[in-house]
Amino acid sequence: MQDIDVIVIGAGAAGMMAAASASQRGRGVALIDHSERLAEKIRISGGGRCNFTNLHCTAERYVSRNPHYCKSALAQYSQHDFIELVNRHGIAWHEKKLGQLFCDESAQDIIDMLKAECDQGGTVWRMATSVEGIERLDSGFIVRTSREHWRCQSLIIASGGLSIPPIGATGFGYEVAKQFGLPLTPLAAGLVPLTFEPKDLYGELAGVSLDCDAHAGAGPHFRENVLFTHRGVSGPAILQISSYWTPGQEIALDLLPGRDAAQLFEEAKRSDMLLPNVLADWLPKRFAQAFCAAHIAIKPMKQYSAAELAQISGHLHDWRVKPSGSEGYKKAEVTRGGVDTDALSSKTMMARKVPGLFFVGEVVDVTGWLGGYNFQWAWASGWVAGSVA
Ligand code: FDA
Repeated sequence: MQDIDVIVIGAGAAGMMAAASASQRGRGVALIDHSERLAEKIRISGGGRCNFTNLHCTAERYVSRNPHYCKSALAQYSQHDFIELVNRHGIAWHEKKLGQLFCDESAQDIIDMLKAECDQGGTVWRMATSVEGIERLDSGFIVRTSREHWRCQSLIIASGGLSIPPIGATGFGYEVAKQFGLPLTPLAAGLVPLTFEPKDLYGELAGVSLDCDAHAGAGPHFRENVLFTHRGVSGPAILQISSYWTPGQEIALDLLPGRDAAQLFEEAKRSDMLLPNVLADWLPKRFAQAFCAAHIAIKPMKQYSAAELAQISGHLHDWRVKPSGSEGYKKAEVTRGGVDTDALSSKTMMARKVPGLFFVGEVVDVTGWLGGYNFQWAWASGWVAGSVA
């Protein structure tokens, strides 16, 4: 049995940040991960360039049962703090769009930076090590692993969510929460493509993308691209609304955002042109054809009544589609839901009823929008826990 101040389980984004922050305070820290390779999710993120934060990070851009929970951590360790760290390590970066910051070179730069920060504090690394059990002591915990057994004062769970199991995702953190009697909010795939039933499949549209204004239920509107796939829809607008979508619900797409279909029809309504050809002025031709075939008898423009044109216009600005499901955890960027924030302190990430036990990163019921928000939550929550653990 070895004694150490802090054990962190999960050497991903939040876990490395927590280990760096605790070890640089002089705490003895062991960082345990069952994977052989370090921080695979950072490595594959942002198309290999890691969208590491967002200039416009605010609590409104996170989904959680308690929308206020993330505020304290995001204020204690902001996007500007992380940018300062990246600059200190001489990592070149750029803003792509909408405040999204990416590495110029490679996501590996962020992994190397975090590893160096952990090493600076003397973090003990335990990769390829599985956790076999956790016990609570009067003060602290025993953590039994495949290599050794540890006794620690503080235990930080940073084992992430369920998305992309082949690179090491497990439900470990949720099981630890249950072991200590902490509630979970319902889990679901988030930032994920949505699927259509085969009968609704616009299969011939695979590869078509369009600028849309999309929303699901009472969730916010996102003006971004929608991409048709062989199984349904993807693209940034769909990934964003998927985090607000519940099964059985329709999604709504304005296919002509910022434009007025009625005006387009006004100009063409006396012509012999077929409707899809008119729409092809503003929409991809393949999409215009499939959309018309699905919704209305195709005929020359002059044969439509005013009521028919108004109805088509309504469809174009508020196209309702009911997805049959999502692509699930194998394609999701994140897991929605997690350890219920009511059970945790928003200032420290510590479980209210289990002193010394912390939950950080994606395992907590805090899910960011697409665009660097999830990493910022991982950095902020990890740093906050590491600064008190
Ligand atoms: P993370 O998943 O990073 O780390 C968890 C660690 O725990 C892993 O190393 C895992 O091996 C380990 N672990 C799991 N179970 C264990 C067990 N039983 N025992 C020991 N260790 C265990 N976000 C963003 O802001 N910008 C972006 O560009 C992207 N891009 C992106 C692309 C793709 C393809 C995906 C799947 C996700 C993203 N994300 C993203 C989301 C982002 O990757 C995610 O929110 C963070 O990595 C979460 O950080 P955590 O540290 O909480 O979990």
